[in-house]
Amino acid sequence: MEPIEKGQPLPHRQPDQSLVVLILAAGLGTRMKSARAKVLHELGGLPLITYVCRTAQSLGPEKIYVVVGHQASEVERAVQTEVGDRAAFVTQTEQRGTGDAVMAAQSQLENSDSLVLVLSGDVPLIRQETLEDFISQHRAGKAACSILSVRLENPTGYGRIVRDESNCFLHIVEQKDATPEEQTVKEINSGIYCFDARKLFAALKRVEPSNRQGEYYLTDVPQILLANGESVNVQLRGNAREVSGINTRAELAEFENLMRRSTIRKLMVDDGVTFLDPSHAYVSAEAEVGRDCIIYPGVSIEGKSIIGEGCEIRSGTRIANSRLGNNVVVKDHCVVIDSEIQSNCAVGPFAHLRMNTILEEGSVVGNFVEAKKSRLGRRSKAMHLTYLGDATIGENVNIGAGTVTCNYDGKDKHPTIIEDDVRIGSDTMLVAPVRVGKGSVTAAGSVVTEDVPPNTLVAGVPAVVKKKLKHGDD
Ligand code: UD1
Ligand code: MG
Repeated sequence: MEPIEKGQPLPHRQPDQSLVVLILAAGLGTRMKSARAKVLHELGGLPLITYVCRTAQSLGPEKIYVVVGHQASEVERAVQTEVGDRAAFVTQTEQRGTGDAVMAAQSQLENSDSLVLVLSGDVPLIRQETLEDFISQHRAGKAACSILSVRLENPTGYGRIVRDESNCFLHIVEQKDATPEEQTVKEINSGIYCFDARKLFAALKRVEPSNRQGEYYLTDVPQILLANGESVNVQLRGNAREVSGINTRAELAEFENLMRRSTIRKLMVDDGVTFLDPSHAYVSAEAEVGRDCIIYPGVSIEGKSIIGEGCEIRSGTRIANSRLGNNVVVKDHCVVIDSEIQSNCAVGPFAHLRMNTILEEGSVVGNFVEAKKSRLGRRSKAMHLTYLGDATIGENVNIGAGTVTCNYDGKDKHPTIIEDDVRIGSDTMLVAPVRVGKGSVTAAGSVVTEDVPPNTLVAGVPAVVKKKLKHGDD
């Protein structure tokens, strides 16, 4: 090292390098056999790329660059949903390999003094702590490049870390290019690297597509750096699972299963939730389920759903992005989407609540009832075969079997308002817009086309006033 003379600025030291994360997400993911880009396939209800972005963000980098190409705008949208404008995009126009993908960020990074952490969009479970440790060891080692590796019992499909007799790193060889002897190597390249930016791009320019796939491999860079007299540091880690990549649907399903099991285990052990058959329930990692809930087999709780305490969710029910209060019973085969069920309600079997439907405390929705954009007041009931669309229903209302709010005139949707203490007779058609006043009654089979004043009995087709009601009289 040259002596530093007094008064001269200090040379740039590696520990001062700030961090840039580069996420590779331009590939199609041919092995997924899908029309959808691999990084958009979902794990635990979220696109794979979301996990990588979230972890990248947790490292507090100066910038996140995402290399996009295949289905770029959809991938960009998924990234922005997670990290907003903290990510910038670079485009790889033709997918010519991981080296070419990194090259797409050349103009942004080539002259940067930053440390570049390269992550793959298809390695979703890598943890913040692992990366922090990886980066700090890279910094301490002052290498031009660090590679995160693990040993796998079945390394098929991965690039192998080839070492010499004294265990020093030589190069990475891809599965398809490996000799039978190299294929026996169990130490694999995770696809996670730290690079000195300038050295990375200088080496990348020398990568040739001289391999079985005719691609520009990023994995050739370490060997080029070594040949240039630079040092390469391979950091072997113990946790193989977190650096596993997802390349096929079978691997995706394996990850899904693992994630599902760990979410459910945590709910059972930490949060006091009973699962009658933990292997046949699905709960999103983002959902919350309260103490003493009982979850039956075949239940799916998706998205950011929040379930209160002491609820019972019976078989075959799907709850997505919804909120349940305490002591709610959702019987078998219900679908609850973007809705709220307050405490002490009962729903189902075979009910469908959607589009911001709200069941207020103690209300009941029974068999084959659909409610859309509707509110059912406290202790009100719609027990059988009913459609409630754009309806606002007061307290202590009973909706008879077969009632329909006819909310659609072929062009527009209209509201139905049913005030407190109303009794809607079986098979009533409420032709919206319409209001049924407090304490009124519709007779069975009524077709209500006009507003019903309070405390009035209406009947017929179209329904007409039969009599004024006194309290308790109908
Ligand atoms: C890569 C590594 C391999 C490593 C494995 C770990 C190479 C050549 N091989 O293989 O050594 O064991 O990851 O998971 O790097 N991508 C682009 N543009 C492209 C090609 C790929 O952006 O032209 C992106 C993909 O979207 C993906 C990532 O790069 O997110 C990795 O690509 P993939 O094809 O999955 O590489 P592997 O075969 O898994
Ligand atoms: Mg891969």
